[in-house]
Amino acid sequence: MTERLRLRRPDDWHVHLRDGPMLAAVADATARQFARAIVMPNLKPPVTTAAAAAAYRERIRAAVSPGIAFEPLMTCYLVDGINPDELVRGHGEGIFTAAKLYPAHATTNSAHGVTDVRQIYPALDAMQRIGMPLLIHGEVTDHNVDIFDREAVFIERTLKTMVADFPALKIVFEHITTKDAVDFVRDASPNIAATITPHHLAINRNAMFDGGMRPHFYCLPVAKRELHRLALRAAATSGNPKFFLGTDSAPHAVETKEADCGCAGIYNAPFAIESYARTFAEEGALDRLEGFASEFGPRFYGLPLNPDFITLERAPTPVPGRISAAGSELVPFHAGEVLDWRFVA
Ligand code: NCD
Ligand code: ZN
Repeated sequence: MTERLRLRRPDDWHVHLRDGPMLAAVADATARQFARAIVMPNLKPPVTTAAAAAAYRERIRAAVSPGIAFEPLMTCYLVDGINPDELVRGHGEGIFTAAKLYPAHATTNSAHGVTDVRQIYPALDAMQRIGMPLLIHGEVTDHNVDIFDREAVFIERTLKTMVADFPALKIVFEHITTKDAVDFVRDASPNIAATITPHHLAINRNAMFDGGMRPHFYCLPVAKRELHRLALRAAATSGNPKFFLGTDSAPHAVETKEADCGCAGIYNAPFAIESYARTFAEEGALDRLEGFASEFGPRFYGLPLNPDFITLERAPTPVPGRISAAGSELVPFHAGEVLDWRFVA
């Protein structure tokens, strides 16, 4: 008999859905697996107002095929000097679920990001008061710091001070990549959590240089050494509710990845839950996948668990090398591999 795994329907607590034709191409991949997703606001221009987020939410809803129930959870892109009233109002009206801190120039479309966290202290104060989560891209942007150290240095230089200054602020340390981040989050108070991507569980930094340059394994924060990957796998499969699912699926057309200066981002949405299932199976922790994928995120955000369930089947699942999208193609994570779990429904 085919081995089956039934899970409460998961949510994706960190995804890039883009806009326009790319949104139309990728929306279903997320919506068919996940009931809800925290949608990143790093569009051009970034989503900095409740009105812009509400309009973007409508475009996402329109992009998802009829018959698929999906709830986009919107985020506000924090900029220097942002007015706390806009966040409080947007949160109160059910438009903003959370706000996102991109240190200026840390990653794709972050040019408008925060130059110094003190610039957003009034916003953080308001968010702490109303219980609105802060989502952090946790890397320093100082180019004198080695790229593989930027997350660990961010903890020391920025995050520890923020946590001390706003001890009750709900914080999600997004897409963590290091043992340093695992240790920090694990030992912090319960209002501090982290998301972990499928790719950081599956690859270490060698994947980017395996026989040549491999741009489809390049994302930010960049994959680190094996010891960090192992710490992430231990954290994700530990059953500790501070660690939950966030894919950081970040589509970039193939020609912008395979370029002189290739974009950062891995498109993992089409086989996201299958990828996580592989990691959890390898760790002998399939019984802990549901907590990580479907329970810990909603609990942290104070949202109800999804009422419905999905089924995964143990069956060879070939991943295509390319997927057409927006007049070009996307190379999905695991391109050309055969995964051993298949999302059925
Ligand atoms: C993301 C993107 O392309 O928007 N890229 C990435 O490598 N993860 C931005 C981000 O989350 O850093
Ligand atoms: Zn991201």
